[in-house]
Amino acid sequence: MILLELDIIETASHYPVPALVGFTMKANLKSILGISLLAVASVSAAELNVYSHRHYDSDAILFKRFSEETGIKVNVVKGSADQLIQRLSSEGKNSPADVLLTVDAGRLHRAKSAGVLQPIKSEVLIKNVPVTMRDPEGYWYGMTVRSRVIVYAKDRVKRSELSSYEALAKPKWKGRVVARSSSNIYNQSLLASIIAANGKDKAFAWAKAVRKNMARAPRGSDRDQARAVASGLADVAIMNTYYLGILANSSVAADREAANKVSVFFPNQNGRGAHINVSGGGVTASTKSKKEAVRFLEFLTSAKSQETFGNVNFEYPVLIKNNKSELLKSWGSFKADEVNLSILGAKNSEAVKLFDLAGWE
Ligand SMILES: [Fe+2]
Repeated sequence: MILLELDIIETASHYPVPALVGFTMKANLKSILGISLLAVASVSAAELNVYSHRHYDSDAILFKRFSEETGIKVNVVKGSADQLIQRLSSEGKNSPADVLLTVDAGRLHRAKSAGVLQPIKSEVLIKNVPVTMRDPEGYWYGMTVRSRVIVYAKDRVKRSELSSYEALAKPKWKGRVVARSSSNIYNQSLLASIIAANGKDKAFAWAKAVRKNMARAPRGSDRDQARAVASGLADVAIMNTYYLGILANSSVAADREAANKVSVFFPNQNGRGAHINVSGGGVTASTKSKKEAVRFLEFLTSAKSQETFGNVNFEYPVLIKNNKSELLKSWGSFKADEVNLSILGAKNSEAVKLFDLAGWE
């Protein structure tokens, strides 16, 4: 019933339609469809424009569910985080965007610094999102967690040989490591976490030594690193967990086989824990639909939505212990580095500089 509602509420304007106007406008159509007036009155006629860097099936499912539950239509503009932040900046207060969704705390920090988000106070968000996974001033909130781990060849590496990110710098791993380029923010955030834990000098030495241990110059996506390990080109890769889930569930047989040949190792379990990061979102500075935008973020961090992110995109919920995905459970539970993720953004430029100096392209 509400699904029908969605199509009818759709308006050209992105601004919220006052409840009474929306109600009157819809009542004629509804009477034809025999939909109860109560149901009509309980939904808002607003739309939300979401600028999203995320490109996952889980999001489409959740946006649809949000619309069904609230009557708020969700329009999505996709692009890279930097493009979207740039677009928000140039559109300024005339931007039609209400919400920005992106991956990596480093990018959320960039959006905050660019002035395109506004601080949000929400008891629901504070309850749903742990303190280390949201901006201290409320400019952005984490929505899913991903861990950047060591993925290894099951037939060539014993788990007992693996321990920490730091240990990948040892000569033992010469010619056996693959990782993507340092221009990728996931690596920048990993190095930022190492700077936070060990200091700048040790972080620099680590980046330099790991680069020297690589089986090839950094290139490709995270998925390509898993493929390289599966093919025998390298023995260990640094990559995000959910890409292994995506490979394991791929429609391409070769990718499913590759996922079968490798496994996940959570590093630094005897120390600070495995590096984690979030994807997350914030309400734009320009929104005219703040209430709905906050409601949208609250919806995405609700227990039910968090379960969908896990089942469909193999990401952890922000409350990691609530994970219900069988695949994620099969990788085992793990201790996560609890450094406040806003620090990853704060140390991003330092990490970029260190990568350059270390020769990690
Ligand atoms: Fe990703």
